[in-house]
Amino acid sequence: MSESETLHDLFVDELKDAYDHEKQLIKALRKMSKAATHPDLADAFASHLEETTGQVAVLEEVFEMLDLKPRGKHCAGIAGIIEEGNEAIEEKDQSPLLDAALVGGGRRAEHYEIAAYNTLIAMANELGLSDAAVRFQSILEQETACDTKLAELGSMLLPLANESGEDESDDEDDDAEEDSSVATKRAVSKRAPAAKKRSR
Ligand SMILES: [Fe+2]
Repeated sequence: MSESETLHDLFVDELKDAYDHEKQLIKALRKMSKAATHPDLADAFASHLEETTGQVAVLEEVFEMLDLKPRGKHCAGIAGIIEEGNEAIEEKDQSPLLDAALVGGGRRAEHYEIAAYNTLIAMANELGLSDAAVRFQSILEQETACDTKLAELGSMLLPLANESGEDESDDEDDDAEEDSSVATKRAVSKRAPAAKKRSR
């Protein structure tokens, strides 16, 4: 954003940044949806992927309103958040623990977007571009709803991640536990005291 000389230039830079971050998120959400273990989390990422595709089209309308060709400018901020998410996907097997990490990564991305669209709305209003502001507002509402949904899913998924974590530390000999159903995990934890003795 070094070449901005006016608020309008800065606004266009922010728009290009948003266009790029949405495109990066399309790829990332696809990957996160595949990586998620719980079907509700996979669905949440898949449905936000669909919304994100629509958001790209809305941003293209704004470029058109400004008589500009839609062009992105590399968004290093979202790239960093996505990179952290990719590390979690590479380091962790599909598990409730990976789901917990994906919820955290997803919420980081949504908060980044919420800040970006609030900034764009404020700038558009200052510049008298109310039609653009209305479009950013519609995107902002989707980002906020997605963050709320991820927060709700987090409340449901964190206890599962907590249980699966206990299993790993309590029963180290049982590392080939492919079946991650809660019932199985509960049965395994009952054997934990004996396993603890063994591991010392
Ligand atoms: Fe978005």
